[in-house]
Amino acid sequence: MHVRKCTRTSIVVLFLLIIPLFTADSQPPHIVFIFADDFGWNDVGYHDSEIKTPNLDTLSATGVRLENYYVQPLCTPSRNQLMTGRYQIHTGMQHQIIWPCQPYCVPLEEKLLPQLLKQAGYDTHMVGKWHLGMYRKDCLPTRRGFDSFFGYLTGSEDYFSHVRCHPLPSKLNRCALDLRDGEEVATGYKGQYSTELLTKRVVNLISQHDPRKPAFLYVALQAVHGPLQVPDRYVAPYAFIKDPQRRLYAGMVSAMDEAVGNITAALRETGLWNNTVLVFSTDNGGQTLSGGSNWPLRGRKASLWEGGVRGVAFVASPLLQQPGTVSRELIHVSDWLPTLVGLAGGQLNGTKTLDGFDVWKTISHGNTSPRLELLHNIDPLFVDMGECPGRDEELSSRSSEDRRWSSLGFNVSVHAAIRFSNWKLLTGYPGCDVWFPRPGGSSTTKTGALKPVMLFDIDSDPEERAEVSDHFPLVVEFLLRRLNHHQSTARPIVFPDDDPRCDPGPAGAWGPWA
Ligand SMILES: *[C@@H]1O[C@H](CO)[C@@H](O)[C@H](O)[C@H]1NC(C)=O
Ligand SMILES: *[C@@H]1O[C@H](CO)[C@@H](O)[C@H](O)[C@H]1NC(C)=O
Ligand SMILES: *[C@@H]1O[C@H](CO)[C@@H](O)[C@H](O)[C@H]1NC(C)=O
Ligand SMILES: *[C@@H]1O[C@H](CO)[C@@H](O)[C@H](O)[C@H]1NC(C)=O
Repeated sequence: MHVRKCTRTSIVVLFLLIIPLFTADSQPPHIVFIFADDFGWNDVGYHDSEIKTPNLDTLSATGVRLENYYVQPLCTPSRNQLMTGRYQIHTGMQHQIIWPCQPYCVPLEEKLLPQLLKQAGYDTHMVGKWHLGMYRKDCLPTRRGFDSFFGYLTGSEDYFSHVRCHPLPSKLNRCALDLRDGEEVATGYKGQYSTELLTKRVVNLISQHDPRKPAFLYVALQAVHGPLQVPDRYVAPYAFIKDPQRRLYAGMVSAMDEAVGNITAALRETGLWNNTVLVFSTDNGGQTLSGGSNWPLRGRKASLWEGGVRGVAFVASPLLQQPGTVSRELIHVSDWLPTLVGLAGGQLNGTKTLDGFDVWKTISHGNTSPRLELLHNIDPLFVDMGECPGRDEELSSRSSEDRRWSSLGFNVSVHAAIRFSNWKLLTGYPGCDVWFPRPGGSSTTKTGALKPVMLFDIDSDPEERAEVSDHFPLVVEFLLRRLNHHQSTARPIVFPDDDPRCDPGPAGAWGPWA
């Protein structure tokens, strides 16, 4: 008798726990994750940009804008953390991106987000950019949890021809198609603008979806990564922008904004919206070399400055408990895996130790974030990419103080950054360090030489203008110890040489060769 009563009580408790999450419907929510590529902090209308994004503005205004949200500084790393819920140092992928001829991918023993959602009963579809490795078939999205895939495996291709040019180990510049439907090469889409092509596929998936099954749609748009290409009609409203790169980029952003509008309209028309959680996030900071802007933040894509890692993001959903709010809680791209699997009512067993936190209550209810610390990265092999005006790679020579820091065990010449609460510590060369002006504004500014160890109070100084390591030696010491701890858990870097067998030939398509 007694045992039975206990069981009944626990069943009631279980119900009380489950009901508030799924009041709208008896099934877990549909999840739509839209990943924009290289979309900068100053490129969304609601950050006071000259670029118009009416759909993103409206959708986020009725949802929760994430204003203290972080991504990784590059494409592969952010996608990797989204899919694994783990820091790059734990997958051996702390260095750069996967180039088309490199024979590696996200380690196959990692359990990816779509696999976990599939296990929780979801239909899982991916449209857009993979960029998590493809040298062998086991690495493809269709072998890693997605029921369907339409998109491309590398990055940087032409928006109309879907061709990617990349030098082979032989130095020959190979231009080949990079577009697939499932695992098959998708020919016949030449001339169709990527943002519209991918959106059409997403809208089709939505209209064909059986609403009784929960869906996970991962929409990894090509927009707004270079090359700067866009149909004229999207650029027409931006005749007032003088910089031709920024003007084209603005048009690309408008096309992306329209894409988000079309996707949400399709969700509403099919009635799926009532039980959908939509996440919009950039994958890294804007690329100032091709039209992007992170003003007023410092640095850009590929750097560990705020301009590289503080991301535009929001959640929109009828299931949010506090719609129409702004969240200033610390949230990171690695948090989506536990958060979304939690929403799905799924299981996290089978994953390796996660670095992400379940932040649903933070986003939906406005609770305090469970995340206090954030490791931005540790990459001993870092080299900067691209022109940086007035670049200052010369770190000031070792002072006695720097020697003291090194005695704590962490090599402060290594490119690394860590956040704890309001504090951010950077070591080594963090990447292009200038403050790029507001688009249309006057020239770039920079201050004196960089130091090997730099500390900023990000809450009061998000532009990273006042370096305060001299004033808070105990904070510096604590954060260097934390870096040292994280580095001790790192896997060796995997970054193999190009494999000559990657060559698809002049008539082929980029894809698995091993
Ligand atoms: C949005 O939908 C309209 C109407 O179907 C279409 O003309 C337009 O190309 C779509 N935009 C994008 C970016 O897909
Ligand atoms: C969605 O929710 C609204 C408001 O609760 C309701 O009026 C509408 O009928 C629902 N639509 C579907 C398709 O369930
Ligand atoms: C996860 O745990 C649940 C319950 O403990 C179990 O039923 C399920 O088989 C486990 N899944 C995996 C993949 O280990
Ligand atoms: C410290 O890191 C730098 C940059 O990665 C490297 O060149 C140097 O050899 C390292 N020093 C030691 C003592 O490991």
